[in-house]
Amino acid sequence: MKKALLIATALAVTSSALATGKLEIFSWWSGDEGPALEALVKLYKEKYPSVAVDNATVSGGAGTNAKAVLKTRMLGGTPPDSFQAHAGQELIGTWVVANRMEDLSPLFKSEGWSKVFPKDLVRLISSKGKIWSVPVNVHRSNVMWYNPAKLKQWGVTVPKTWPEFISTCATLKAKGVAAPLVVGENWTQQHLWESVMIGTLGAQGWEDLFSGKLKFTDPRVVGAFTTYGKVMDCANKDASGLSWQQASDRIIDGTSAFNIMGDWAAGYFTTTKKLAPGTGFGWAASPGTTKTFVMLADSFGLPKGAKNRTETMNWLKVLGSKEGQDAFNPLKGSIAARTDSDLSKYSTYSKSAATDWKNSKIVGSLVHGAVAPESFMSAFGAVIDQFVASKNSAGAAAAAQQLAIRSGFSK
Ligand code: GAL
Repeated sequence: MKKALLIATALAVTSSALATGKLEIFSWWSGDEGPALEALVKLYKEKYPSVAVDNATVSGGAGTNAKAVLKTRMLGGTPPDSFQAHAGQELIGTWVVANRMEDLSPLFKSEGWSKVFPKDLVRLISSKGKIWSVPVNVHRSNVMWYNPAKLKQWGVTVPKTWPEFISTCATLKAKGVAAPLVVGENWTQQHLWESVMIGTLGAQGWEDLFSGKLKFTDPRVVGAFTTYGKVMDCANKDASGLSWQQASDRIIDGTSAFNIMGDWAAGYFTTTKKLAPGTGFGWAASPGTTKTFVMLADSFGLPKGAKNRTETMNWLKVLGSKEGQDAFNPLKGSIAARTDSDLSKYSTYSKSAATDWKNSKIVGSLVHGAVAPESFMSAFGAVIDQFVASKNSAGAAAAAQQLAIRSGFSK
């Protein structure tokens, strides 16, 4: 028995060491966002040293640029071997419905993954009874970041609701803080909008909005747009020129008091900036969302026609493994998608996120692909741009409703 095991292990080692070839993975995790993915690639290279890995990235937060390049490659018939896509409608509503992805259910079966990934998450990456990608993490979108020492100095506490946020903003302005809130380029403003909506409509209202039960033109939603407008009045005027990292920097240097961003900001603060959670930076659920976890997950799939199928399957195995997830996530600021991860490897921030993930109402993020198809998402940015310029709540609500109808989730 022991001997058989030894031979089997030796064979496995030899076959992976001998595996040659190439692997191209495609994502938007470059620069400051790179270290977590690099750790995963390193692990893959340890297991498959002869495979040349091309870690292809197109920078730009939330994949705004990468998704456009991916589209060109997919439509041009030159897909990368494996690419980053959010769990949910972003992948299912585009490349899966277009029949461009391979069914990964056999891989989930052979790796025993149906038992280690949460059922709701597996549902999010499934359609027509098949599973289409391997989730590497779970990120939280509804987090408010601040600098504890600066809040103390200004004599303000963390606001718990959006109306409270708006009055804290007035207090800070009176104390000479020109922009109590920092936001960045367009997608980060949509990200903020998502938190304001959920904090105002509640988790149920948010779900109803994307199942078509609640219309964007409903007075509650129009009112939430107005609240969002007042929140944006607290923000910096140079938003469109800032990346999410540059916006985060303004919390650390004390220019602004608050930023709403996903918990990749925790990865940035701890991995890149080497700050200690709790003192170097503070966090709270965004106002009005304490018992709600707005989730998103990054996942990788296997497009049909991938040049290096075997290497890609091995990549997906590493990505879905406990070892892979616990190499990636402590650096990324996210928690593992797997339920059996070793939390001792994670920061205090991530430990708190892991507790909230278990004890909160879970809803999906719009901006990061979980709840609405790309057709809605890609056009919604213009609605936000126009709203921020005009502050016309009824007009923005009507435009969003038109998009929802066109995207097929509302009438
Ligand atoms: C999200 C992605 C995160 C992070 C963030 C900022 O869409 O899921 O992992 O990369 O964008 O770029």
